[in-house]
Amino acid sequence: MAMNKKIIVGNWKMNGNGDMLNVMTETLKGVDLSRATVILCPPMPYIGAASKSPVDFGAQDCSGHEPGTSGAFTGEVSAAMIAETGTKYVLVGHSERRLHHGETNAIVAEKAKQALKVGLTPIICIGETVEERNAGQTNAIVEAGLRECVPGKGCIVAYEPRWAISAVSGGIPATPKDIQEAHEFIAGILESMGLAGTPILYGASVNGDNAAEILTLPHIDGALVGAKSLKPADFFPVIEAVSNL
Ligand code: 13P
Repeated sequence: MAMNKKIIVGNWKMNGNGDMLNVMTETLKGVDLSRATVILCPPMPYIGAASKSPVDFGAQDCSGHEPGTSGAFTGEVSAAMIAETGTKYVLVGHSERRLHHGETNAIVAEKAKQALKVGLTPIICIGETVEERNAGQTNAIVEAGLRECVPGKGCIVAYEPRWAISAVSGGIPATPKDIQEAHEFIAGILESMGLAGTPILYGASVNGDNAAEILTLPHIDGALVGAKSLKPADFFPVIEAVSNL
């Protein structure tokens, strides 16, 4: 039996509404959370519900602009503002931010630093595109992501191979071997950075059917779930998979 709690993160992306969030948080009150740390990441307008939720909340992004807490940056939300709502985590560098908003490793590092400054735990997302994978660049992209985005202790890393995310042309699910190799590599790089023990999540097409197998692989401390985190009927089997490990 695994000793540490697994971390199960639900990334709602730009989906959901207040009613859906109420249903999710109310239903979560009846779920066994003794083996899993569950973190819900709804769109920014809904993170105020963090204080009423039985599980932790995360934002999907934060500003990386200096000086950090406030300033003339229309549309941005600072890490300090997120922390004030009782939200404890923030995703940074999700591949959809990199793809649609041009976020680079340098920008992601700034966001992670701002999060750490106010006591939020950044969940730093890294992962290669299908073109990068086919060109044999997976390890180089992953290593650069870690070395350039992770500013130090207190972070969580999420490996999301971009070609395997369900929203990317259906996603080609990665095999357990692919996942294991990547996570071993990531754990080794983190160790070489003096960051051994940093939790490493896997995130791409995780669902109730494959969660148990993925979560028992070495160096996998949890899952970052997209499409299957929106409805309790899809999300709870992922959480429950942890109880059977
Ligand atoms: P899916 O679980 O829908 O593949 O999404 C993964 C993801 O991008 C989570 O951040």
